[in-house]
Amino acid sequence: MCGIVGYAGCDKAGPVLFDTLKRLEYRGYDSAGVAIISDGDLLVLKAAGRIADLEKSYLRGGSLGSSTGIGHTRWATHGPPTTENAHPHVSGDVAVVHNGIIQNYLELKEDLLRRGFVFRSDTDTEVLAHLIGSFYMGDLEEAVRSAVCRVEGSYAIAALARGSSRLVCARNESPLVIGIGKGANYVASDVSALLPYTRDIVRMNDGEIAVIDHERVVLRDLSGILLPLDLERVDWDVEAAERAGYPHFMLKEIHEQPRSVQETIATRVSEMDGDVRIDIGLTVDEIRALERVSIVACGTSYHAAVLAKYLYPKAAGLPVDVEVASEFQHHLLRPGTLLLSITQSGETADTLSAMKRASTFGVKRIAISNVVGSTVTRMVDETIYTRCGPEIGVAATKTFTGQLVSLILLGIKLGRGKNHLSYENSRKMLVELTRLPGQIQEVLERRDQIREIAEKYANSDRYFFIGRDYLYPIALEGALKMKEISYISAEGYPGGELKHGPLALITEGTPVVALATFGKKIQANIKEVRARGADVIAFASEGDPDISKIANTVVELPVARPVLSSVLCTVALQLLAYYTADARGLPIDKPRNLAKSVTVE
Ligand code: F6R
Repeated sequence: MCGIVGYAGCDKAGPVLFDTLKRLEYRGYDSAGVAIISDGDLLVLKAAGRIADLEKSYLRGGSLGSSTGIGHTRWATHGPPTTENAHPHVSGDVAVVHNGIIQNYLELKEDLLRRGFVFRSDTDTEVLAHLIGSFYMGDLEEAVRSAVCRVEGSYAIAALARGSSRLVCARNESPLVIGIGKGANYVASDVSALLPYTRDIVRMNDGEIAVIDHERVVLRDLSGILLPLDLERVDWDVEAAERAGYPHFMLKEIHEQPRSVQETIATRVSEMDGDVRIDIGLTVDEIRALERVSIVACGTSYHAAVLAKYLYPKAAGLPVDVEVASEFQHHLLRPGTLLLSITQSGETADTLSAMKRASTFGVKRIAISNVVGSTVTRMVDETIYTRCGPEIGVAATKTFTGQLVSLILLGIKLGRGKNHLSYENSRKMLVELTRLPGQIQEVLERRDQIREIAEKYANSDRYFFIGRDYLYPIALEGALKMKEISYISAEGYPGGELKHGPLALITEGTPVVALATFGKKIQANIKEVRARGADVIAFASEGDPDISKIANTVVELPVARPVLSSVLCTVALQLLAYYTADARGLPIDKPRNLAKSVTVE
């Protein structure tokens, strides 16, 4: 769970490394380091803490170094976040940065210790560095190849050697992208780090090794066979990867949702045919024969999955089971099941491992993801992309609404394919779906009211979120957003469930957020908590005559059919969490202990 970068060019490497590293800080930010060739020697600078602090000491030291270097931002897995454990790790003439986990590091370490190598850190990466160092006789590519052939586990590696102006990179099950520039080439864990420098990229595949200098990139497989460069032009712009004037990426990304949802829908909705144009890798007959949908996902993506549990039985006559990916190991899949993984990053280790296990059942596997070419997309038969652009804030926002909308599109596709959803109903739903971006904009315009509510309850030590039916997953998500960025204890429940225990925690003034855009039963639940002293903040449809009589505060949302109101409630709850965290003065884009892409199980 780290970010790595590399530069081989004609300018000084330091500024490029620090700039690209900062763009990857969302992948981890407990320590950082760079290694730069300086007068043929290796200059290594690393420290616990933020990249900006490390950059200051680099500048204080006179910005030394030539035009080749590697860098790393870390999220601790092996060993605490200390300077010793920060990357790069050095062995003899070689410096290495690594993202991933070396599973057989203990046995490799014992062997290296026997051979006299001295370890200075607790990391598995230092094992890798010494392994590469032990093979290095002047040919770094060969040394990396020999080392990775002995390694079990996941890695994205960038290495350089004293006296050389080349980088050597390798990848297995951790993302790595090469950027092709003019007179300079780059490497990074993620495209977003490279956007100010180049749009031309090559995504490395598992089992590939790249040798990069300022003029050339040479790609080979582990047996040394030369591979073609599969060049891709990325159309994400630099602006999209930066804050664009918002104080936090999260707020920017919340406000991007009218456009991102529009993108998710664009070209996929055919109102005239009453159908959805997405390829899910299944023939008409295969869709008809489907008996069940199973979904695996983690965190916010799991909450999106829960929506399908309510939608697909109604829309497509298909039962749905949803499993947290890390708990998938005992799950059995019957023939006739469509397995869907939902992962915005496409790199979540728990989800990837569940998908790997699912391959033994011989069922069709598809994914919903935001990242083109990410690992999950290479494991499945087909991917529905959410098309949200890069999401930098650690708390998922626009990618969650992208997942909800993608799930709705998939539900309509399955419903039509199974002749369960009539042309008329489907067409109506699609027409309403196309209005959603405008309605999201209307929710964003309620931001001042939501900010006032957030400020009023910002010092509460507990929040409850309740919702029924399509709004239950949104209650879960609202609670997760609240706790992850505001650090207030928050729980999401189905409206009917509080009376089975949690009601004991309601005291005078406890804020309870009630999602009440449809249905009468939630009103009974509001009365239950009011009677125990709760302050109820209800999110209801405009013009609802009843809610204001029973809730303390009402935020009116545009009228939409129940499944679509789930998206509108989501946006409102994102704002509530954001303004609460802001009122508490917290580091919203980088909440403590969390990282954007969770590449460990
Ligand atoms: C919370 C959040 C996480 C992710 C989870 C899965 O805001 O972002 O809960 O949803 O780590 O990540 P992906 O979707 O990349 O698999």
